[in-house]
Amino acid sequence: MGDMGSAGERAVDSVRGGDGGGAALIDAALGYVFPAALRAAALARVADHLSDGPRTPADVAAATDTDPTALTRVLRLLATRGLFGEDEQGRFQLEAAGEALRSDVPGSVRDGILMITDRTFWLPAGRMDHCLSTGGSVFEDIFAKPFFDHFAQDAETAAVFHDGMAAMSGVENEPIAGAYDFPKTGTVVDVGGGQGGFLAAVLRACPGLDGVLYDRAHVVAGHRLGDDAALAGRWSTAEGDFFTAYPRATSSCSSASCTTGRTSSVSACCAPAAARSLREGGSSSWTRSSHLTTALIRPRTWTF
Ligand SMILES: C[S@@+](CC[C@H](N)C(=O)[O-])C[C@H]1O[C@@H](n2cnc3c(N)ncnc32)[C@H](O)[C@@H]1O
Repeated sequence: MGDMGSAGERAVDSVRGGDGGGAALIDAALGYVFPAALRAAALARVADHLSDGPRTPADVAAATDTDPTALTRVLRLLATRGLFGEDEQGRFQLEAAGEALRSDVPGSVRDGILMITDRTFWLPAGRMDHCLSTGGSVFEDIFAKPFFDHFAQDAETAAVFHDGMAAMSGVENEPIAGAYDFPKTGTVVDVGGGQGGFLAAVLRACPGLDGVLYDRAHVVAGHRLGDDAALAGRWSTAEGDFFTAYPRATSSCSSASCTTGRTSSVSACCAPAAARSLREGGSSSWTRSSHLTTALIRPRTWTF
């Protein structure tokens, strides 16, 4: 639709607004089918089944328990964005741009895609007009609870969300932990730290620090801090609601510095909790606002 080469297409386009603008807008409106196809392919693990080279749709369909005709259409749609390619014999191959769709590669974004395209994101996005007219969040209108309260009640979508967050943050945990000037000793608290990937990266980068993973009870219960045996004895977990209970200092500390980058609705909520903790004795705070990781540095004497 983007190629306005033929006279017929130019004629149609002029009816739609001329200069290709109308057709481009229709393309944009249809854009939602791309993440839908991406989700379908990720759920079926299609990329995993193309990791060894080109295969026919029938072959991949048999391996993924999908319909061959529908799979061909989905793969062709994703091929328009360069994730897959189709050869002259009608076989499909995984292109470099689609590699991270595989579940078994470092830096895999499959879980992130499943999170971003989950109904908890997808349904509210489809009702953005409601936000526009009311100025409020449509999430509660659909799910009858605020975003994170919903996950506390729904283990299945909670797992999708936290696995997705861990996958997306996973690629940046090590570089950020290595780049930030953490204190040499003390205890770092990751507020809203999810499954603990960032805290583990900080502890690996800073051998003199201990760590506390702070999040809601159902999230802390699924932490992955135990995955790294080398960190044994250097971390603990604490559960709570950072709106009402946050790390308290039992001794005061001298200075506070806070760096905050771009804000998001959630980090805006979390940052005040960090600030309150700092007032009560933290020495520094850092916020990764894009994914909401707030790390508080506190003396070892602090308690919850
Ligand atoms: C966007 S996720 C980020 C997770 C992790 N820091 C990362 O970067 O992958 C936000 C985290 O904040 C936690 N969270 C949200 N509201 C909270 C609250 N009121 N109290 C404690 N944790 C909360 C969520 O459970 C979730 O793990």
